[in-house]
Amino acid sequence: MATETTGTPEQARRTAAGSDSVSWWRGAVTYQLYIRSFADGNGDGLGDLAGIRSRLGYLAGLGVDAIWVNPWYPSPQADGGYDVADYRDIYPPFGSLDDAVALIEDAHRLGLRVLLDIVPNHTSDEHPWFVAALAAGPGSPQRARYLFRPGRGEDGSLPPNDWRAVFGGPAWDRVSEPDGSPGEWYLHLFDPKQPDLDWTNPQVREEFCDILRFWFDRGADGFRIDVAHGLVKQDGLPDLGTDTEHVLTPPDRTDHPHWDRPEVHDIYRQWRALADSYHPPRVFVAEAWVASPERLAAYLRPDELHTAFDFDFLRAPWSAPDLRRAAEASLEAHESVGAPVMWTLSNHDITRHVSRLGRAHIGGPVELFRKRSGPVDVELGRRRARALLLLELALPGGVYLYQGEELGLEEVQDLPEELLQDPTWERSGHTERGRDGCRVPLPWTTSGPSLGFGAAAPWLPQPQAWSQLSVAAQERDPSSMLNLYKQALGLRRRLPALGAGSGRDVTWLDLGDDVAGFSREPGFVCVVNTGSTPVPLPRGRLVLASNTAVRDQLPPDTAAWLTTS
Ligand code: NOJ
Repeated sequence: MATETTGTPEQARRTAAGSDSVSWWRGAVTYQLYIRSFADGNGDGLGDLAGIRSRLGYLAGLGVDAIWVNPWYPSPQADGGYDVADYRDIYPPFGSLDDAVALIEDAHRLGLRVLLDIVPNHTSDEHPWFVAALAAGPGSPQRARYLFRPGRGEDGSLPPNDWRAVFGGPAWDRVSEPDGSPGEWYLHLFDPKQPDLDWTNPQVREEFCDILRFWFDRGADGFRIDVAHGLVKQDGLPDLGTDTEHVLTPPDRTDHPHWDRPEVHDIYRQWRALADSYHPPRVFVAEAWVASPERLAAYLRPDELHTAFDFDFLRAPWSAPDLRRAAEASLEAHESVGAPVMWTLSNHDITRHVSRLGRAHIGGPVELFRKRSGPVDVELGRRRARALLLLELALPGGVYLYQGEELGLEEVQDLPEELLQDPTWERSGHTERGRDGCRVPLPWTTSGPSLGFGAAAPWLPQPQAWSQLSVAAQERDPSSMLNLYKQALGLRRRLPALGAGSGRDVTWLDLGDDVAGFSREPGFVCVVNTGSTPVPLPRGRLVLASNTAVRDQLPPDTAAWLTTS
C-alpha cells in the first residue's frame, strides 16, 4: 500500500501519530461491516461483497481508515457465518473468492485497510474435519481435533461436565456412532452446530497458521479474532460449578475452566511472529471478554496481539465519573504493555448504543444483551450517542464503529418472531430474542421497498421511520448524526492532538461530578456533560459540539471539542 511518508509536515505528523504503514493501527478508525445487512448488490435480500464494493466510496468519504468484514466464508449460517465450513473460500450468496480479492484491492486503492474475521474456537459441524470425525469413531485422530468425550453415568447418557452453551442449554451434544449406537459427546460452547476445536492438537495450530497465511497472501491487513479468550480449555475439563453466568460477560473469576486460560497466550505469540513476517506487518484485534483491563492487557504484551476491543468503556453507565474511571483504567492497563486502547460502543452482538443510552435514564447498569427490555427514549439515546462519540474519538488510541451507528440507528425491538434468526431465540426456549435487532439492513435512501438496501424484501424488515435516518436524508441535513461523524472524523485527522496515544497524553480536568473532561497537547480540550443542568464551557475556541445549541454553556447530554492554542 502506498502510504509511506514523503516528507510533508502533515505526513510526518501522521507517521508520529501512528499512521504509517507499520503502526497505522495505533490510532485507526475502523468501520465494521456486517455483510448481510450493509448493502445488497444482487437483489436477493442479503447484503454481499458487490454491495460493499459499490459503497466503499461512502466509507472513504465518511473518513474511516479501515474496514473489518464479519465472516464471509462458506457456512450453513447457523450463527450468522460464525460457523465456518471452509476457511479459504467465500459463502456463495456473498460472492466469490475473486470478488473478495477485488474488494481488498478496491479498498486499498481508496486508502482503506482491510481486516477479516477469523473463527478459531470452533468450526461448523459441516466442516470436512467434523464430518470426518463423526465417521471415524471414538479414539480416532479425526476426533482428536475436537473435544469428544464419553458421557457420565452408567450408560454414558449424562454430559461429560456441567458447562453451559452461550446460546442456552448444555455445552455438550451426544452423537450416534457409525454403527448407530449412542456414542460420545462433543463440546460446543456456542451452538451445537459449532463444535469446539482442541487447541492442544498440533494439527489445529498448523491449520490456522496456514489459513492466516492464505488471507495475508491475498492482501488482508489483519484479523479480528473471534472468542480470542476461549480457545484453550482446562486439562480434564472440570465442572464449572454454576449455571448462572452469562457467557459473553467477563468471567468474575480468573481460574475459569474455559475462558481466559493462561495457555492461550502461547498461540498468539506464534500468530504474532507470523504476522510480523509480512511486509508491512499484519495486525490483530482480539474479541476477549475478560475479568479486568489488566487481564486484557496480558493479550497485548509486545510479542502477542496488537490490540483488543475495550469492552469496559462500552459497559460504563452514562455518568461522567464512570466514563472517566473506565477510560482511565483501560488507558493505564494498556500503557503498561505499550498497546493502544481500541474504543468501541456497538457491534453485531450487543444492543445498539442509542437504545442502551436511551434506557440508561431509568437507572441500573447498562444492559448489553437484551435480557431486559423496557421503554427506550430514542431521542435521548441519540443525544447521548452524539456526545459519547466525541468523547470516544478524542481519547488516545483507535476506534471501532459499527455500521449504522453513524446514522443513529436504534435497536429494532419488535421484529416478528418468525423472522428471528439468532440461535439464541431457539436455544433459550424463546425467552431471549437474541441479536437480530442490531442487524437490520441499513437504510440508504428515503424511499423504495428496502430504503435503497437492495432487494424488495431484505432479510429483516426495516422500520419505515428509518427513511428519515437514511444516508440520503442525512447527507442533506447539516446537523444530522452522519454529518457529525464526518466532521468529527475529519477533525480527528487534522487536529495534531488527536488519534494514537496513551494515558500519558491525557490530563483529566476537575470540572465537577457531572462533567468528564480532559486536555491533550497541543492545545485541545474535550468535555462532556452527563448531568441535568448546563455547565460553563472551559476556555478555548469551540471547534465542534454534539449539539448545535452550544455557546458558552454546555447543556446536559452534550459534548464539545475546543482548541486552546
Ligand atoms: C462472537 C461473535 O461476535 C458472535 O457473533 C458469535 O456468535 C460468537 N463469537 C461465536 O462465534
